[in-house]
Amino acid sequence: MSSTQRTSAWNGIAQHAKRVIATSAEDLLSDPRRLQSSRLRVGGILLDYGYQYLDEQALTVLVDLAEEKDLLTYLRRVADSDQVNPIEGRAADHMALRAAATDDSSELSDTIERERTKMFEFAEAVRQQEFRGCTGKPIEDVVHIGIGGSHLGPALVCDALADASSINIHYVTNYSSRSKQIYERLDPSTTLFSVASKSYTTPETLRNASRARSWFSSALGNAADASKHFVHITANREIDFGNELAFYLPESVGGRFSLWSAMGLPIAIALGTNGFEALLEGARNMDRHALNTKPQLNAAILLALFTIWNTNFLGATSHLILPYHPSLGLFTRYVQQLEMESNGKSTTLDGANATKHTTPVIWGNEETDGQHAWHQLLHQGTHAFSADFVGIVNDSDVDSNHWNLANLLAQSELLFTGHESADEPHKSMPGRHSSSLLLLDELDAKSLGALVALYEHKVACLGHLWEINSFDQWGVEKGKSLADQIEQALAGGQDDSLSATTRELIHTIRGRAQK
Ligand code: F6P
Repeated sequence: MSSTQRTSAWNGIAQHAKRVIATSAEDLLSDPRRLQSSRLRVGGILLDYGYQYLDEQALTVLVDLAEEKDLLTYLRRVADSDQVNPIEGRAADHMALRAAATDDSSELSDTIERERTKMFEFAEAVRQQEFRGCTGKPIEDVVHIGIGGSHLGPALVCDALADASSINIHYVTNYSSRSKQIYERLDPSTTLFSVASKSYTTPETLRNASRARSWFSSALGNAADASKHFVHITANREIDFGNELAFYLPESVGGRFSLWSAMGLPIAIALGTNGFEALLEGARNMDRHALNTKPQLNAAILLALFTIWNTNFLGATSHLILPYHPSLGLFTRYVQQLEMESNGKSTTLDGANATKHTTPVIWGNEETDGQHAWHQLLHQGTHAFSADFVGIVNDSDVDSNHWNLANLLAQSELLFTGHESADEPHKSMPGRHSSSLLLLDELDAKSLGALVALYEHKVACLGHLWEINSFDQWGVEKGKSLADQIEQALAGGQDDSLSATTRELIHTIRGRAQK
């Protein structure tokens, strides 16, 4: 049994869970104090947890767990660049990327400051048309080549905040013919490629970069000056990029935590220095809240505790992220990597098998589309789940935003209260599903920065509570090496190290491949 499960709070939570499970949604809502005691504000974000399927007593013992496990001290260890990633012998320095400038500089803070300044200067030169392509034309399109954390952060922020006046940012992620479809519409002489890979070993990115270079050279000739069209973003300082610009992020920053670093170059190009600084300010404000607020009023700690409650005690196996605003269409995909690549683990820090569930499956998508796709399962399916709803209070399109907010509130209520239809059982909905509501006063760089940082801290808290390493991702490596072997076998190479089933499938594919 893990040390978390040996805490007195853990056993207390189990007792309260038995009691709450036997309590109706109506009874939970009947507590007059619930309305005002289930919400808090952090800057421009309201967290309302009135639809978490718990009561004040259960929340109290969840907070006891946060205190017994000393989550605040753990978050401060992350902030202090302690080795919170012991498997790789690293810190997790995403907070250092947005820390306020202080007098006590360090090699880390100096490196961060230098690369951020270099990135801002380059981004402004592109925006002001001072930086020009090899034929002297200004840059009109940026193609960002990267995948996972080298894609999702920049894409989320640019999709959410860039407007029609911004330089077009295009994304090439997996290795497919889609890049050709993008290039067909672009002029190579006004296109800048940012090749983004923390490791600079990711096959998709390297192959996509090679194809981009071929497209560029075939269009403008081998003598064309590629240094005016290719820049690189990485933590790998072993690569010789010749006369092409490279922007570096610290090795101690995880890819899925890296949008605040030079990985955010597309953000700086699309939003400008002021926009990027506002993003950092929002995250910094959330850091200050998370590091200095007692657990019962700490939004990050509470979100983590709700996941413990719903996943480890109420049987939820998945957790939905449901943004009810078109500019947050990529938020679920971003959180999927952040949460599942961080905490989708079953080996604890001491090498033992986890004795309790870790992160639930994170899913969902932009709403209200989901209401026309999988909300049937949410309302009448057989699975336990929890959800976070995200809405924007003030939006320029008032009518559509009110429609989205009305649906957000309707869904969160119904998922909690359910609906009884005794004479028409096929219309009954069990309800009793927990959800939290995150309402942003408005969507801007500052509020988005705070929202993303909030989830980063939630993830760190959960990793500490589950006693796993949130900052490595060994589970994705074996698939990469096996795919290399299979790709060679598909091309006729040896396949005797593969399973009989895979060998047979390769044989079938090769047999059907167009000659
Ligand atoms: O394979 C998983 C992963 O390593 C992610 O952690 C990372 O964000 C992504 O691949 C891309 O890695 P890189 O930035 O090194 O290309």
